[in-house]
Amino acid sequence: MAKIVGRKKGSDKVSVTNAEIQKEEVKLPDFNIDQVNALIENRRSIFPKDYSGEIIPKAKIETLLKNAHWAPNHGKTEPWFFKVFAGDGLKKLAEAQSRIYKELSGDAFEEKKFNKLANRPLQASHVIAICMKRGSNPKIPELEEIEAVAAAVQNLWLSATSMGLAGYWSSGGVTYKDEMRDWLGLGAEDKCLGFFYLGMPANGWVKPHRQSGWETKVEWVEG
Ligand SMILES: Cc1cc2nc3c(=O)[nH]c(=O)nc-3n(C[C@H](O)[C@H](O)[C@H](O)COP(=O)(O)O)c2cc1C
Repeated sequence: MAKIVGRKKGSDKVSVTNAEIQKEEVKLPDFNIDQVNALIENRRSIFPKDYSGEIIPKAKIETLLKNAHWAPNHGKTEPWFFKVFAGDGLKKLAEAQSRIYKELSGDAFEEKKFNKLANRPLQASHVIAICMKRGSNPKIPELEEIEAVAAAVQNLWLSATSMGLAGYWSSGGVTYKDEMRDWLGLGAEDKCLGFFYLGMPANGWVKPHRQSGWETKVEWVEG
């Protein structure tokens, strides 16, 4: 265990310097790169219409959240926050997001969109609100806090894939509205970045697909 070197006044967060952390030696396990490659390549968006209705055991969801917490972050702000909706909690989310949509849409109201927002969470085993809670270090740009949360989601998503759990990141509807942020209990500086839907796949896995080869996204500078 790394040594705890400080605790900010009024905070339950412990502070450990990088120097202290780097003194700790660990033996890296023998990872299997073929398995890692296969895990990454097989991570897919699988949507609620393709969930079986089976409920994922809570312990598995906790593993996902624990792995999310190992994401890289700048300035030790650990800016991710997850609100997990399950059971009747899914009804609360469905009711809130459809109500907020109705209240905000005015003349642009579409029955189809409303119904989607009112029903989709009910098709999932769990829905996790992906939140960024602005850290207390003003030197860290908001963009980096968002990037850290996205890294946490990728940890969660890959972990879900390794357990055969179907998932997808939804950012539609009222995700980015202040009313949703407030309903989630977030502060004015915080953000809701989406909802991670989880379920058991009803129709098997989905074939991996990319529009382009990875080489097209890389430029080497070697000389
Ligand atoms: C930040 C973010 C937001 C997303 N929001 C939506 C969304 O609102 N609706 C949707 O159908 N897919 C959404 N997706 C999932 C993408 O559609 C999906 O990742 C993409 O099609 C690639 O497919 P794959 O995840 O299976 O590789 C989102 C993905 C990310 C990273």
